[in-house]
Amino acid sequence: MDLVSAGAAETGQPWWVDFFGELYAEADIEFRDRDLTAAMVACVRRLAPPDKHPRLLDLACGQGRHAVPLAAAGYRVSAVDLAPGYLSRARDLAAAAGQEVDFVRGDMRDLGAFADGSFDVVTSLHTSFGFFPDAADDQRVIDEVRRVLAPGGLLIIDVLNRDAFLRQTSELLGVQRGQFVVRNYFPSAGRLFLHEEVFDPLTSRIRWTVTDAADATRTTVADYRIFSAHEVLALVRAAGLRPEAVYGDFSLSPFTAHASNVICVASVAK
Ligand SMILES: C[S@@+](CC[C@H](N)C(=O)[O-])C[C@H]1O[C@@H](n2cnc3c(N)ncnc32)[C@H](O)[C@@H]1O
Repeated sequence: MDLVSAGAAETGQPWWVDFFGELYAEADIEFRDRDLTAAMVACVRRLAPPDKHPRLLDLACGQGRHAVPLAAAGYRVSAVDLAPGYLSRARDLAAAAGQEVDFVRGDMRDLGAFADGSFDVVTSLHTSFGFFPDAADDQRVIDEVRRVLAPGGLLIIDVLNRDAFLRQTSELLGVQRGQFVVRNYFPSAGRLFLHEEVFDPLTSRIRWTVTDAADATRTTVADYRIFSAHEVLALVRAAGLRPEAVYGDFSLSPFTAHASNVICVASVAK
């Protein structure tokens, strides 16, 4: 089974090292959606108010679009990401906002930079999970989150809802019978991007190709697993966390099979 992107074949790196670069940063429409980002930050504040949960770790923080406003909201924020380019932008964003955030380059599977029990809340936002080919690595991430959370601490994890993803109509043009493929063109950052998502029902992974519509040489591939709510719950339970609630969006609507997101809140016993 090919779990390595075209980019990976060229550089010898796992896909997630190559994919999270300039092209993806341009093409992900959510990065530019200020209202959505504000709603995500407000959601974290509602679920884990900073006066009760002051020490926050933003896992896979990207370009800091949540970490910086969370610092402004009163949290003491640390933030981890693997992509040096994104961290550099995140540091610039924090400096421009006059906020202090401890940005750390690292792999979410090894949070060894942080002592046991050093956070009151860990956030993992915008499907920053399910990347690794080996499911044991996904579990390692949640186990590490459990380790760095203090008694009473909370994990807030937000991922795409597999059940809702599979309710989309597969786009038909040129798609082989039996394949599940979703194709969309999205304008972003002044350009048009083709997003092609091919779902593999045997692995529950999406092979996601993003291509600049005006320049087909600008293309990049991700390959990540999507989860149903019960699978997220199993992962957090296996790490020794207690599920507190599952929501379907950032307004904290109750979760349903139709919900776009699985937003799971899980706690460490006090
Ligand atoms: C979908 S983006 C979301 C970024 C951010 N949470 C946001 O919503 O803006 C996923 C992020 O995971 C980071 N990432 C990928 N693999 C990682 C790893 N093994 N350890 C830490 N971060 C990783 C990428 O660099 C990227 O910034």
